[in-house]
Amino acid sequence: MSATLLDGNAVALAIRSEVRPAVDRLTARAGRPPGLALVLVGDDPASHLYVGSKLKSAGESGLFADVHRLPANASLDELLTLVDRLNQSPIHDGILVQSPLPAAMGPDAERRVFDAIAPDKDVDGFHPLNVGKLVQERATLVACTPSGVIELLDRSHIQIAGKRAVVIGRSDIVGKPMALLLLHRHATVTVCHSRTPDLPAVCREADILVAALGKPAFVTREFVKPGATVIDVGTTRVDDAQTIARLFAPGTKRRIAFEKRGALVLGDVHPEVEEVAGALTPVPGGVGPLTIALLLKNTLRAAEARLG
Ligand code: GUN
Repeated sequence: MSATLLDGNAVALAIRSEVRPAVDRLTARAGRPPGLALVLVGDDPASHLYVGSKLKSAGESGLFADVHRLPANASLDELLTLVDRLNQSPIHDGILVQSPLPAAMGPDAERRVFDAIAPDKDVDGFHPLNVGKLVQERATLVACTPSGVIELLDRSHIQIAGKRAVVIGRSDIVGKPMALLLLHRHATVTVCHSRTPDLPAVCREADILVAALGKPAFVTREFVKPGATVIDVGTTRVDDAQTIARLFAPGTKRRIAFEKRGALVLGDVHPEVEEVAGALTPVPGGVGPLTIALLLKNTLRAAEARLG
């Protein structure tokens, strides 16, 4: 058996084609497009790529978007001042501060910055007020990646209600909101983490298994009940040739891509899982495109709420 691959690009395109006319209608009514501020601190190459994709996608959907850059040695106070200015800005409806922030900003910088974003502009859904609303199932702005996973399951006609769901990873950005969204859709949810005993056995109970732990190819076939839906949220850049050689046979598409580029982005799910799962999100082309599509949708939502 070979798993059905869930096409994140196609679902993201469908969402974006729904966002575009709603953006155009709002722009005509309000006299300006919904606005998104992207804040990029430092020079992490992956963050530069992500912010570039977000900027391009926002433009293609008719949004106004701009990037606000600070150098790697910027202080937390400078960043908080910028966030405050964007909170007051009449042309920005959404603010996204790209994570991770430079380590030199201190261990609690990210939390302090996310706390400082006006809740009605918090298109990442990371502000404690929006997280609290999510817990009570009355959120308007929910973290983009987990919301994207729900959209992917729905639009792929995968039933959630009554199913056993297991989430590996308990981050504020993915694991926790993912578990809550699955719970609100009437799944029976288990959240696993580094101290869960016999992790493979717990995961084998899942009809829907979400891997969001950030360890490439960690989820092997022994974690997966035959026929289960497996959602791979991992994106880790790997440049170690031995790791790649262990995972991909010579002549396969991914091995050739590695030989050409010297690195690959790997998910948390081992390639052998394709032989066991019923449905599986590929990396790349699975969850990634949905994160951006949901960011556009959240920006539209924030603008609609602000502009009335
Ligand atoms: N870095 C990786 N994913 C995300 C995300 O969803 N939002 C922000 N702000 N930073 C990220």
